Amino acid sequence: MIDLHCHILPGVDDGAQSLEEAAAMCRLAARDGCEAMVATPHQRRGEWWNADREALSALADELQDAVEPGFRVYLGGEVHVDSELLAEVEKLPGGGILPLAGSRYLLVEFDSLGTPKGAIHLVHELSVAGWRPIIAHPEFIPWLAPDPSLVARLVALGATVQVTAMSVTGDFGRRPQNDVFTLLDAGLVHFVASDSHGVRRRPPGLGRAHRLIAGRWGADVAQRLVADHPRAVVADLPLPVAV
Ligand SMILES: [Fe+2]
Repeated sequence: MIDLHCHILPGVDDGAQSLEEAAAMCRLAARDGCEAMVATPHQRRGEWWNADREALSALADELQDAVEPGFRVYLGGEVHVDSELLAEVEKLPGGGILPLAGSRYLLVEFDSLGTPKGAIHLVHELSVAGWRPIIAHPEFIPWLAPDPSLVARLVALGATVQVTAMSVTGDFGRRPQNDVFTLLDAGLVHFVASDSHGVRRRPPGLGRAHRLIAGRWGADVAQRLVADHPRAVVADLPLPVAV
């Protein structure tokens, strides 16, 4: 399994606060069956702007050196959406934004005060510019969670969808779990990721969500969401078409 959404870079946001904690998170993930994690520090969000790509890259290298051989740490970002984001994306590969593992996939976190119209515009513009937006945890976006038809529209425009493993398992309560189940029923989920923030609080691990999805939607679906699709992302390939 490959975990595409993890706050494991130490000391840059509300995730791991030390290199030791970050390495412990990677060990937990490895024990749970992950072979790689993409470090996705918050970017462009409040106190966590994190626009210094070199500094973040150096931290990711440091973490890579601190984990078991064979476990891979990639670098990316969880990019908070604001009205300036598109102008910033145009500066890529310069600028501060980090796509996932150097690919064309961008993990975007919509603002809780965003709008459907703004989301449609953003996904359309990113897609026509050749980017592959991944919508982070729609179950926590208040104007998106209750509206699977809007999620479907964004997917039709080129977006893919990441839900959070602990939402799948019900650790955040019934409401996010139900919203995620509705999206899974509709075939509108492409990735399950941990969005892990520490060893105890929001820990890493995709195993429980993987098992639950395999039991309810089938082993093939589960395998796609935690392994095949994330593998395509880090290889910068289009997602394999389901057969
Ligand atoms: Fe996150």
